[in-house]
Amino acid sequence: MNMIILGPPGAGKGSQCERLVETYGLVQLSTGEMLRAEVKSGSKLGQTAKKLMDAGQLVRDDLIISMISNQFDQHRDAKGVILDGFPRTTAQAEALDVMLSEKGLTMDHVVQLEVCEDAIVERLSGRFSCANCGAGYHDSFSRPAEDGKCDKCGHTKFLRRSDDNPETVRSRLVSYREQSAPILPFYQDKGVLQSVGGMGGMDEVFDQIKEIVANG
Ligand code: AP5
Repeated sequence: MNMIILGPPGAGKGSQCERLVETYGLVQLSTGEMLRAEVKSGSKLGQTAKKLMDAGQLVRDDLIISMISNQFDQHRDAKGVILDGFPRTTAQAEALDVMLSEKGLTMDHVVQLEVCEDAIVERLSGRFSCANCGAGYHDSFSRPAEDGKCDKCGHTKFLRRSDDNPETVRSRLVSYREQSAPILPFYQDKGVLQSVGGMGGMDEVFDQIKEIVANG
């Protein structure tokens, strides 16, 4: 099973992907995570990406498309993949179609998480993750069971993303409205887009996604 999770910054894509990985054994391909790994490694791509990410702008299509294509090849034996943060432009959506047909793959579900913008700012400003295993948390909605200690690995250091400040979040929302939202009609026209209300609790949102999977 292959799936795309679409939605604005902070819609809950990463949080739902964690559940999809655990429940269905899929591999999560997050372009945001891949870029943050490039930034951390100090690579040329990482240096270019960091400036754009900190400004809330998108990284060039050709760089992203080749990164995703490599990841598909690396995970050829996986039960399926969930695309998180990709595609994000019409050019990326079109390139994905070509890539899938060249690799003999199909996209089974395209799920859009719908959330209101006020919630996005609150969600992103309270987000943090474990510095060791990357498990995601939130100051108000999803704190570790024991304060200061990761539920999954017991590590005690946490990180906040540099692009989660209010100014960059506003730019990310503009990028989403202008460049990413226009891909929704692309999938609507193909008759594969399914919308999920993303304003409920995380488990409630996941129940809706599980229903989509169950209905094939
Ligand atoms: P990326 O890392 O993809 O960030 P994003 O799309 O902005 O999405 P986020 O990761 O911020 O949010 P999310 O939807 O995953 O929400 P989460 O589950 O964490 O991209 C970062 C940057 O990289 C981009 O700006 C761009 O520069 C570049 N980039 C990436 N992909 C690219 C591409 N394809 N092309 C070009 N450039 C690209 O949830 C957020 C918070 O809310 C968490 O704290 C969580 O605990 C909480 N939360 C989640 N769900 C709920 C809920 N239901 N109720 C309450 N709280 C919730």
